[in-house]
Amino acid sequence: MSHSAAPTPLTARPSGPLKGRVRVPGDKSISHRAMIFGLLSVGETQVEGLLEGEDVLATGRACAALGAKIQRHGEGSWTVSGVGVGSLLEPREPLDFGNAGTGSRLMMGVVAGHGISATFDGDASLRKRPMRRVLDPLVRMGAEVTVQAEGGRLPLTLRGTQDPLPISYETPVPSAQVKSAVLLAALNSPGRTTVIEREATRDHTEKMMAHFGADIEVTPSGEHGRRIVLGGRPELRASRIVVPADPSSAAFPLVAALIVPGSDVVIEGMMDNPLRTGLLTTLLEMGADIEVLDRRSEGGEDVVDLRVRGSELHGVDVPPERAPSMIDEYPVLAVAASFARGTTRMKGLAELRVKESDRLAAIADGLLVCGADAVISGDDLTVEGRTRVTGGGPVATHLDHRIAMSFLVMGLATEDPVTIDDANMIATSFPAFTGLMTGLGAKIGA
Ligand code: S3P
Repeated sequence: MSHSAAPTPLTARPSGPLKGRVRVPGDKSISHRAMIFGLLSVGETQVEGLLEGEDVLATGRACAALGAKIQRHGEGSWTVSGVGVGSLLEPREPLDFGNAGTGSRLMMGVVAGHGISATFDGDASLRKRPMRRVLDPLVRMGAEVTVQAEGGRLPLTLRGTQDPLPISYETPVPSAQVKSAVLLAALNSPGRTTVIEREATRDHTEKMMAHFGADIEVTPSGEHGRRIVLGGRPELRASRIVVPADPSSAAFPLVAALIVPGSDVVIEGMMDNPLRTGLLTTLLEMGADIEVLDRRSEGGEDVVDLRVRGSELHGVDVPPERAPSMIDEYPVLAVAASFARGTTRMKGLAELRVKESDRLAAIADGLLVCGADAVISGDDLTVEGRTRVTGGGPVATHLDHRIAMSFLVMGLATEDPVTIDDANMIATSFPAFTGLMTGLGAKIGA
């Protein structure tokens, strides 16, 4: 996947109240993992509600290159017939992950724990992202990086080992991708591997390992952290996975409904995993009118229906320890903060600099282009809210889907339209975004 398509600008115009019920697509993190665990188990894994975004499809193609048989049976309904831990094939071509940081990093863990070599590549955004954070522990386990671009970046070639060493590893950054890469490599290790995180990050890998029958134990560690111990060489059992709606995608209609006065929107089936819902906590603190209509369990995760109404928000301080539970939601939170009364201070955002773009800079630059007020100091972002924001553009999206969607949401509530320079990347995580939003009454178009 090259993403070399010509940029497609898109404009959001001030809109009347948003109304209706929506279900956003399946969770991206769980969808990547569904493909990967399907590959690593013997038999047929059934997946319902898979996110059919470009990122996940790239991971699916990589799994197929390593030996899985993958079939689509209908919208979101897929089967993955795997080869099992220890039996992967060596891919004949480089694995192209497009824009997908999660797919590429998790798959580095998979390859590192097998006696095969694979070349990893991606688009201009992925080629800029740091990979040493993942490669360092994998090399300690016995993998070798035989080719790499400057600074340990893509394209790179990784030679794995059929006998990865069990290690004890404390992740130096709060990253579910780093944790998951180590755990995936450890699946084929003859011993027990321990990963310690000082701040707990999304736990989908751990939950899915348990669901597929691995011997995994998770216990609290320190004030905010966790300790994960995984026994190697389990026989993973092919399983059924029901993918809940992605809270990181739900964030867009959610914030849109809050900032467009008079809106009344129901968001159905959103995953309610506490390691993913920091945005909800923050918006409630800001005075958001969000009602939980129904909480239930679907496919092993709690999900909720939310009723969201246009709200007068006020600024808050967002503590740094909340960042891992809302790391992908800061762009849209900053948009909400622009329309709030008073100041919102978001602290401890260093990780935002290494996402699909330097999100800290992209958020602040975009807000300034739209007449809002944002200041970066160190790793903190401060937004001075006001009830009227002019709008403008073009906002530079830097190949970043979440920057693109956040500023389109902004343009629904500004005085004048907001134009983004390129909407193509939205297809990586939320291909139905524009249709879903216009269905609620949002004015988004060319
Ligand atoms: C993800 C982890 C997060 C997040 C990304 C998805 C995952 O990245 O930003 O969108 O599925 O594990 P980091 O692990 O780099 O924080």
